[in-house]
Amino acid sequence: MGPPLSSMAMAVMLRSRAVFLGPPGAGKGTQAKKVAETAAVAHLSTGDMLRQEVAAKTQLGLQAKTFMDAGKLVPDDVIIGMVRARIRLPDAKDAWILDGFPRTLPQAEALDKSLSGAAALSHVIYFAVPEAVLVGRLSGRRTCSKCGAIWHLENRPTKKAGVCDQCGSELVQRSDDRPEAIGKRLEVYRSQTAPLLAYYRDRRVLREIDASRSPDLVFQELLKLMQ
Ligand code: AP5
Ligand code: MG
Repeated sequence: MGPPLSSMAMAVMLRSRAVFLGPPGAGKGTQAKKVAETAAVAHLSTGDMLRQEVAAKTQLGLQAKTFMDAGKLVPDDVIIGMVRARIRLPDAKDAWILDGFPRTLPQAEALDKSLSGAAALSHVIYFAVPEAVLVGRLSGRRTCSKCGAIWHLENRPTKKAGVCDQCGSELVQRSDDRPEAIGKRLEVYRSQTAPLLAYYRDRRVLREIDASRSPDLVFQELLKLMQ
């Protein structure tokens, strides 16, 4: 833990409309959860939304599952519709972090179109991590089946193996954290999502963070960047 958040930092974060951009396993979800808890900012993770739809066996979930398990992207129109509906809910009125969206150029353009004037993006933060590190993070990840807390067999182990420290429920491995799907996700990231770096760099909103360091160091730097 670092020093407490200053009231100034807190005030700025309360108005954040941020995008966390980066490859699978970069730590977007880990950090977005922490920032959201610290600063009462809504955490909008398209991956989490889709996994909830899959668990509830909705039509959207059934449609998305095949793409997700294969490590491919779910079609843009499905994702854009889902995000538009989510961002209109009352808890996302003032401030949010988009985690895992946008990840194609059409998604970025759709987001630009739906945000205008005062509601424009405040930060786009690129989580930079070398690919060799990502593979280790993804294969050792375990997630709580109930509260969604993110753990790692070596980097962030629970006190009791297989049991969530936060809520006592069972930990599971994501179905897309198998080696074949991991390889595909990294390839999809390189071809479809990495071009967004230039898109946001051109718009002068891109900030880069060295996310290969410890979670606490990354969190401290993130708070500074989001001021
Ligand atoms: P999504 O859930 O978004 O997965 P992702 O982008 O592949 O990213 P991850 O959640 O795997 O990684 P993360 O950066 O959140 O890392 P985490 O914090 O967990 O998407 C899943 C699928 O849904 C997609 O493949 C696609 O099919 C679909 N989808 C979602 N959004 C979509 C969209 N917009 N368009 C189309 N399809 C979409 O950390 C990883 C591990 O590392 C954990 O074990 C953690 O404990 C550990 N860790 C974290 N930080 C550190 C650190 N600093 N040091 C050491 N270990 C760390
Ligand atoms: Mg995630």
